Amino acid sequence: MPTSHTATRSHAATATRTRKAPPADAIKLLRADHAEVKKLFAEYDKLAKAEADASEREALALDICAKLTVHAQIEEEIFYPACRDVLQDQDDLLDEATVEHASAKDLIAQLQSSSPDDDMYDAKVKVLGEYIDHHVKEEQNELFPKVRPKLDRKELGEQLQARKDALLARLDGAH
Ligand SMILES: [Fe+2]
Ligand SMILES: [Fe+2]
Repeated sequence: MPTSHTATRSHAATATRTRKAPPADAIKLLRADHAEVKKLFAEYDKLAKAEADASEREALALDICAKLTVHAQIEEEIFYPACRDVLQDQDDLLDEATVEHASAKDLIAQLQSSSPDDDMYDAKVKVLGEYIDHHVKEEQNELFPKVRPKLDRKELGEQLQARKDALLARLDGAH
């Protein structure tokens, strides 16, 4: 006698994944930031293709700019100096990364002072996304594997998280 099983749908899709506890590991924290902005750039791309409202595009672009600014700042203040300490004279990667941050900051400043009605606005967001993508690949494929075994990733992760929280709180207070 054949038995038929009706697949019961689980409600997994409706369970929202909230990640309350921040990743204490420095590299995990930075990778999570990278993944978050990558998603936001993809969202922006959709809005640009759909020719979404200026206000909607601007809100997302400014959110990306704010997140990138905080990320770059915590790397420059805390993570890169710790990497320099462990890499000693093999720190070319960090010099390049710092120069790349400066280029990204330049585009961020241009976006923050321009209007989404500007013809070049979408192009600037796109180029910023490409810059960041390249920069993130270098961090994740070259820098992180080199420093990973040498860093106190937990201690550093806590410092990064605390500084990130403080900078984000300051941004929230500014609105
Ligand atoms: Fe970086
Ligand atoms: Fe990064």
